[in-house]
Amino acid sequence: MRRTILTFTILIVAGAAYGHSNVHNPVVQDRMENMMRIAAQMKRLGEMAKGAADFDPEIAAEAVARISARASAIPERFQAPETDPKSEAKPDIWENWPDFTAKADELTTIATSITIESQADLGPALSRLGGSCKACHTSYRAEQN
Ligand code: HEC
Repeated sequence: MRRTILTFTILIVAGAAYGHSNVHNPVVQDRMENMMRIAAQMKRLGEMAKGAADFDPEIAAEAVARISARASAIPERFQAPETDPKSEAKPDIWENWPDFTAKADELTTIATSITIESQADLGPALSRLGGSCKACHTSYRAEQN
């Protein structure tokens, strides 16, 4: 019984970590995973914003700090113009590299400058962060394939 539960837990954790098991290029897999982790922190903030989770300033600060760290890792993770059939990255990234990195830096700057002291700060923070995701995705992320 114990072993069954353990195996089950391992399967769930492995499934979450390798959600993109059909992505063959490890560089692409890695940059997608970085994005998924950014999105997971946005979700934590979003849940507190809509009251699905209790507001905790420490959790909010941690989420924002993680977004900042992950955003600053975007340029190095996209530097090589790698591709994969499952990738949604547009080739324009490498044609407009300075603009792409500026958009990544913008997210880092926003995340670094945000202070969340109360639940009321979450909405404005999410819209600033979300605007930055959107600005980059509009130019450099293709429609879901
Ligand atoms: C500087 C550009 C840039 C910024 C800023 C950015 N993204 Fe992305 N994001 C991309 C690109 C490009 C892809 C497509 C990567 C690929 O498929 O190879 C992507 C893909 C994703 C994906 C899909 C990952 C997957 O596993 O397929 C999610 C989720 C995501 N981004 C969330 C976010 C969120 C949330 C933010 C803001 C908090 C954000 N992104 C900010 C460029 C950006």
